[in-house]
This record gives sequence, structure tokens and C-alpha cells, in this order.
Amino acid sequence: MGKGHKDKVAVITGAANGIGQAFAKRLAEDGVHIAVADLADGRDTVKLVEAAGRNALAVVCDVSKEDSVAAMTKQVQAKFGHVDIVVNCAGIFPQADFATMTFADWRKVLSINLDGTFLVTAAFMPGMRARKWGRVVNMASSTFGSVTTGFAHYVASKGGIIGFTRGLAGDVAADGVTVNAIAPGLTRSPGTLARKPRPGFATMDDEFAAVATLQAIKRVEVADDLVGALSFLTSDDAAFMTGQTLNVDGGRVRS
Ligand SMILES: NC(=O)c1ccc[n+]([C@@H]2O[C@H](COP(=O)([O-])OP(=O)(O)OC[C@H]3O[C@@H](n4cnc5c(N)ncnc54)[C@H](O)[C@@H]3O)[C@@H](O)[C@H]2O)c1
Repeated sequence: MGKGHKDKVAVITGAANGIGQAFAKRLAEDGVHIAVADLADGRDTVKLVEAAGRNALAVVCDVSKEDSVAAMTKQVQAKFGHVDIVVNCAGIFPQADFATMTFADWRKVLSINLDGTFLVTAAFMPGMRARKWGRVVNMASSTFGSVTTGFAHYVASKGGIIGFTRGLAGDVAADGVTVNAIAPGLTRSPGTLARKPRPGFATMDDEFAAVATLQAIKRVEVADDLVGALSFLTSDDAAFMTGQTLNVDGGRVRS
């Protein structure tokens, strides 16, 4: 049980799969009830949360659309009454060479990764401020501190998320709300397994193996490597930490 977690309520976007799903399972084990907000069916995550003895709700939601976020917010409020923790994990990372990247490609990544983080945070912030306790955790990426190719839009979105995390932290601190981010390294997930490898790699397994050699801890990162950081950042123990980005990447990025 995490310190201060018992019977809190979390909304986790992108929790139907991958890192978000691992986050949902861990927070449920810590004592938190979970709402999954995802474009994809969150049924499997609901089962994991319920198996941990917590209440769960899955809402189909496109975090990049204001009306969809508003509808999701209503459903979550109707089920749980309030929300204490927002985890903005929904994100896309299509590999695209800059020479062929269109403005539509750029807007899509920025709208889901960055606008989505704004919209979902803004939806639940008034309630957290009114109750004088809240936790927001956003997803950055080790790509922001690394040499990459084919991810100009994605890295820009993650830089925006780090900026948002820092900027918002000051605005809401007086009301007991902290805002932090986690920056994973390349992590095995349904999303990364499905994406096109970067140029120079025949398969994603080759890319995973190569990235692992750049880390101090030379094995491929998995979603469960990230859940401890989330548990800490959303607990009472992290009450004096805000505006920070934690690198959880096997020791690849130093900052
Ligand atoms: N896996 C990695 O290597 C890695 C590294 C650094 C950062 N991250 C970040 O972690 C987060 C999760 O990554 P993952 O690897 O688990 O991805 P994933 O593709 O496995 O899962 C992402 C989830 O987000 C959902 N989603 C996508 N667009 C959405 C939208 N518009 N509205 C609502 N839900 C949407 C998908 O349906 C999916 O369930 C992302 O923000 C990603 O940028 C991942």
C-alpha cells in the first residue's frame, strides 16, 4: 500500500495497453481506484484492477478532442465522484523522417501527446485544487535527452510536456497539487513493438538491443521498470517534489 494511496481515485490515459496498463495495475495494488481513458478497449485493464480489489471504469476517449475529454470527465465523475490523481500516459510515436514529415503528421503527434496532456489535466484540476490534494504525472521520454532520428515531432511534444510540467507546478502548488513527469527509455510495449524500427535496424528487437547497450544497466526496459517511480510520485512521500522529470531509463540520460 502506497503512503496516502488508500481509496484515492486515478484517471490514467492510455491505460488499455503498455506502460499505462502497468501503471493501472500498480496503483490498484497500492490501493487506488482506477479510471482508464483510452481510444482502445480498456477491459483487460479493468480486470487487472478488479483483481487487485479496487474499483475500475474504462471509458473510450480521444484525449486530443475537447468534447471526448469532456464526456469522459462526466463519466468518471459519475462513477467515482472525484479524482485525486491524473496520469497522462496516452501517446503516439510514429517514426517519420523530417524530409517527408507533413504538417498533419506534426499536428497529430502534438495534439495527442501535448494537447491531450493539457486537456485531461485541465479537466480534473479544479477538483484537485478544491480538495487541496492532487497528483499529476506526465510522460516525457529519454529521447528528449538523446540523439535521435525520425522523431522531431515526438521529441518536440515531449519537450513541451516537460515545459508544461514545470510551468503548471508553480500554478497549483499552493493547493497541494504536485506535477511531475517520468522519462522512460526505449521500453518494450505494444506500441514500440508495432512501430517501424529506426533506419539502420532491421527489427525492433535489434533496436531494443542496441539501445540497451547505451544504458548503464544493459537490459531492455519493460513497463514494470516504471511503476515504482509512479507509485512514489503519486504518494504522500513525494509531497515536496514538483516540476521535476525523473529519468527511469537504466541510466542512459544524465540530467
Ligand atoms: N515505450 C517507450 O519506449 C516509451 C519511451 C518513452 C516514453 N514513452 C511514453 O509512454 C507513454 C506510453 O507508451 P507505450 O509504449 O505504453 O505506448 P502503447 O502504444 O503501448 O500504449 C499507448 C496507449 O495510448 C492509447 N492512445 C493513443 N492515442 C490515444 C488518444 N488519442 N486518446 C486516448 N488514448 C490514446 C493507445 O490506444 C494505447 O492504449 C507514451 O506517452 C509514450 O510516449 C514510451
